[in-house]
Amino acid sequence: MWNRRNFLALAASTAVVITAACGSSQPGADSGASEEANATGGSQGEVNVYSSRHYDSDDAIYQRFTEETGIEVNLIEGDADELTERIKNEGANSPADVLITVDAGRLWRAEQDGLFQPIESTALTQAIPENLRHPEGLWFGLTQRARVLVYNQETVDPSELSTYEALAEPQWQGRVCVRSSGNIYNQSLLGSMIESDGAAETEDWVKGLVANLAREPEGGDIDQIKAVAAGQCDVAIVNHYYWARLAKSSKPDEQAVAAATGVFFPNQNDRGTHVNISGAGVVVNAPNRENAIAFLEFLVTPEAQEIFANSNNEYPVLQGVETDPVVSELGNFKVDETNVSAYGRNNSEVVKIVDRTGWK
Ligand SMILES: [Fe+2]
Repeated sequence: MWNRRNFLALAASTAVVITAACGSSQPGADSGASEEANATGGSQGEVNVYSSRHYDSDDAIYQRFTEETGIEVNLIEGDADELTERIKNEGANSPADVLITVDAGRLWRAEQDGLFQPIESTALTQAIPENLRHPEGLWFGLTQRARVLVYNQETVDPSELSTYEALAEPQWQGRVCVRSSGNIYNQSLLGSMIESDGAAETEDWVKGLVANLAREPEGGDIDQIKAVAAGQCDVAIVNHYYWARLAKSSKPDEQAVAAATGVFFPNQNDRGTHVNISGAGVVVNAPNRENAIAFLEFLVTPEAQEIFANSNNEYPVLQGVETDPVVSELGNFKVDETNVSAYGRNNSEVVKIVDRTGWK
């Protein structure tokens, strides 16, 4: 039925051969392991999924897919860069049918590496809003995450907050926390700002933001929320689901962090709050192309979208599917409808801006 262990064992042997062959002119191309992988991938009844999402609930979705379609799901998990490198190294012999990863910036990188093929599917285009998928069908958003402001309930009245842009104003001097600019979430936010405000204005904004930081960037989004709760800073830029994770925690200290902080959706009076996606595309040489399309189509059904939404506290892409109650309580908000493919397109400009402005 649903194969993780078997495929992982196979994957391990493939990886070893590829590593060993890295110095040769054709990495892994003629290896016995690749042939073995290809033979496995070539049968009708399966789909080989490479995923950098690591949630148990995703497994539940794959299991449901197998139960409903009879198509086995063989899963390889790894970090996004590892998986894309691996597909590149496997080349035309790659058994990969689907690549799932988080952040449109990463999907764009994989697209630039030529890893995806365009897919035409009415089920996908009807379920997924236009701004959350690649214009030519190279990849598709499966869930949405909002990059919100989290503020200290004691020191900030939410009426003082308005936009991302306003965080560069003098009133926030020494009061803002944000993680490093090397993080793709921040790079994608900047990519969206370039699209809306232009590169020059975005660069000015980053200068102002850096001048307003309470401390040098350190840690992930959860660490920024904890710093806000501890009074090290008054406001932070983070993905919404990290706050929800703390609010739902069984640990009293994490609950206290959520209780001490509030969530604010910026830019509600103009373009809307920046959202990003986790998403997937069909790999360019997918041996099980039709199964891959069926798999993606299943991931946007109400059943799968509900599991997605309730696992990592994300927003479904499909309208009418309920979010987790903790997330619902944050209320509805206006989404910035800039197409998420702009984030990657603007990324080289983003990298120059953060270099020039010294956002660590
Ligand atoms: Fe995350």
